[in-house]
Amino acid sequence: MPNLTTRESWGTRLGLIFAVAGNAIGLGNFLRFPVQAAENGGGSFMIPYIIAFILIGIPLMWMEWAIGRFGGKHGHGSTPGIFAKMWNHPISKYLGVLGLIIPFIVLVYYVFIESWTFAYSVFSLTGTFQDYMTLHKSEGSSELLLMKNFLLGYTGVESQPFFSGLTMAWSFLIITIAANAWILYKGLSGGIEWFAKWALPLLFFFAIILVIRIFTLDAIPGVNGTVWQGLGYIWNPDLTRLWDVDVWLAAAGQIFFTLSLGMGSIHAYASYLKPKDDIALSGLATGITNEFAEIILGSCIAIPVAVLFFGLSETITIAQGGSFNLGFVSMSVIFNHIAYGQFFGFIWFFLLFFAGITSSVAMGLPIVTFLKDEFQFNHKKAVSVLIGLTVACVIPVVLFNKFGYLDELDFWAGTFMLVLFGAVETILFVWVFGMDKAWAEINEGSDIKIPRIFYFIMKYVTPTFLILLLGAWFFNSAWDILIYNKSAGGGNVVSENIPYITAARVFIFGFIVLFCSLVYVAWKRYGKKEVKS
Ligand code: PHE
Repeated sequence: MPNLTTRESWGTRLGLIFAVAGNAIGLGNFLRFPVQAAENGGGSFMIPYIIAFILIGIPLMWMEWAIGRFGGKHGHGSTPGIFAKMWNHPISKYLGVLGLIIPFIVLVYYVFIESWTFAYSVFSLTGTFQDYMTLHKSEGSSELLLMKNFLLGYTGVESQPFFSGLTMAWSFLIITIAANAWILYKGLSGGIEWFAKWALPLLFFFAIILVIRIFTLDAIPGVNGTVWQGLGYIWNPDLTRLWDVDVWLAAAGQIFFTLSLGMGSIHAYASYLKPKDDIALSGLATGITNEFAEIILGSCIAIPVAVLFFGLSETITIAQGGSFNLGFVSMSVIFNHIAYGQFFGFIWFFLLFFAGITSSVAMGLPIVTFLKDEFQFNHKKAVSVLIGLTVACVIPVVLFNKFGYLDELDFWAGTFMLVLFGAVETILFVWVFGMDKAWAEINEGSDIKIPRIFYFIMKYVTPTFLILLLGAWFFNSAWDILIYNKSAGGGNVVSENIPYITAARVFIFGFIVLFCSLVYVAWKRYGKKEVKS
């Protein structure tokens, strides 16, 4: 049985809000959101997005905080232990395994992308993009194409002498993992909270500088686009694609990803609250802070500036050409053309790096907490196991990136399973644990009064919405991806990639089996004592 008296806790209330906002604000806000919005029609994406925020985002945020704090009271910060306390049934702890493997699998590819942002911030400062362009100028390709090739070369999708294989990518990845390890080793309030208190204000500061710079840029001769047109594309309500299921799925998927919901990560953070700490206001505050970073800052950078430089229709084409085209490719071209571009480029990519790192440590915490609570590991040992596992599992992500391995992980663990886990935990909390008890948990110690309508939303609307979403998702895209009809990254499956796609699935499945076995062992060993206590 975990020792409740030695359970760590957050330092201050503000520190906690910074830490959870740091958890939520990540690459999702600045890279994923603009691409999703651009691909799904801008104004037609924002309507389902806002509806999903109110009917899924906010209710689930409160539920996950409440579930986490409830677990903490019983000495459990990861969902196997928490679910077992919510529902006294042998299967409940195995359902909770999803809350361990999802954040871990997302972590292993997220940390790789995070390392690119770090690399790109260094490349901006050192003028590496210009060097590359000078070297390849004679080929006559457009700058966009050159910077796309740069990304493909750096990430190992294409082998190019400039990067000497994957050496550069590995080097930045090792530094990134080491930075994550360092923050996690330093503990909850000494590491995660301390870092978020620095990183988050700096991130906002950098983002605001960029927004100001972008909105004061002069028109580009020969391009028919303005920053306002870019903003208008996102914000002018457009009802034409409102009945398109794909737009709804994308919007809801983005809400999950950006708010870190359906992952087990918010639960782990909230499990370190004290039993009477407020969650209603803090949960709402983190949700709103994340949305500010996403729809205000996130929508004022990559899209408007791309429209200014390339025009609206070209911007949409760029976004459709790949998830990293807007954030990495077009941004590195743009910074090449503005005064002090090296500096602004550095700010952009470093801001992404900070956003990424406060999120990736959050993806690692559930496993650390699990090992500490259920196996009585000390903190350092638990972090070491997590880092060891991460290093081992990131290797195929880097090596097989060009074969669609990363996309496959992102589809299942970073998209589909979030909704699955969100549905499972909602049903468990509002139906099995019971809505009255759930409502009492959420409101315990609360600093604001949550409108009663949310009682009904949580009890009926959220679960219905999630089940419909899950069904629609399964039939609309998951099934075709599952039977290799479509690739997770979009388009048809290249037959050469099939073994790697299958390897990604074996990896996910293997982790489910591994963690189910660990749960089995933990409960065999320590579970009996717990019943008595
Ligand atoms: N919300 C983060 C983002 O927007 C991603 C994340 C998921 C962070 C899960 C922690 C846990 O990038």
